[in-house]
Amino acid sequence: MLIQKPADIRPSEITSKENYLNRRDFIRAGSIAGASVLAGPALGAIVPDQQRARLADVARSEFSTIEAPNDYEDVTTYNNFYEFGTGKDDPHQNAQDFDPRPWSITVAGHAEKTGTFHFEDFIRLFDLEERIYRMRCVEAWSMVIPWVGISLADVVKHYQPTSKARYVAFETLHDPVRMPGQRRRVLDWPYREGLTIAEAMNPLPILAVGVYGETMPNQNGAPIRLVVPWKYGFKGIKSIVRINFVEKQPQTSWNMAAAREYGFYANVNPEVDHPRWSQARERRIGAGLFAARQPTLMFNGYGEQVAHLYSGLDLRKNY
Ligand code: MTE
Repeated sequence: MLIQKPADIRPSEITSKENYLNRRDFIRAGSIAGASVLAGPALGAIVPDQQRARLADVARSEFSTIEAPNDYEDVTTYNNFYEFGTGKDDPHQNAQDFDPRPWSITVAGHAEKTGTFHFEDFIRLFDLEERIYRMRCVEAWSMVIPWVGISLADVVKHYQPTSKARYVAFETLHDPVRMPGQRRRVLDWPYREGLTIAEAMNPLPILAVGVYGETMPNQNGAPIRLVVPWKYGFKGIKSIVRINFVEKQPQTSWNMAAAREYGFYANVNPEVDHPRWSQARERRIGAGLFAARQPTLMFNGYGEQVAHLYSGLDLRKNY
């Protein structure tokens, strides 16, 4: 078990943990009051057009960190989601009218099972879990976020990729009417990301459908987004509509935009600096303006679970 030294525990963390526990009680109470909406942890129980339904009583995964989560406000008001603007506050401001339902997800490429599925049908086959993960943005800030989601490995196994499938590619919705940031060519839309099959089969990545026990807020990538905790946050593609099993390494948005700065792997690595800044330390959001930056950990502290995926790979070249 990780035991924090008292000096490592900041007052803001203690407060946010209390808030978190209160919120969980609130969510439980809400779930009793709204029992018709919820029937256990299956998301199929969520009324489709209900925004912010509660995902109460979801089991906490053993992969969760015991670090105190950031406040709900931090998690939902300090975001990167260029489809709704490039400022940190833009997604929270501009995504409120986005309606993520109905939503469908297409699974395509080299797999035994493919097709287009309603979001609820896609999700209900898998167990929901709470996973409290550190998130390290490539911009050198970090948070701890209590996600609710399904294991990506379970999803991959279900669709049975063939031996030709070496990568999984993901795409965000491309709809400039509903996502006003796409009217400007700040990126080559749609936003794209990818993982190797081995990475996708690791037990850590999830497709998250909620945060803090509630369905995913729009600004965090409603209704479903990827979370890969040992990689920089930009790998966590939001509002996914397409999952494609492919043979060749897929193009990824930030690599297409600036290949010298953002690689395909994007593993958190304090020893490989971004060309314009150091990656050795990070600013924990919510820690206060004057808090010291904390050291960034190799693979964001998840090396025990994932370092073996990269044995023999030069992580300086394959950044
Ligand atoms: N997904 C899409 N579609 N568009 C984006 O702009 N930004 C990425 C990632 N996923 C982004 C995206 C970046 S840079 C980060 S750090 C995380 O989302 C931020 O997730 P959060 O806002 O939920 O903290």
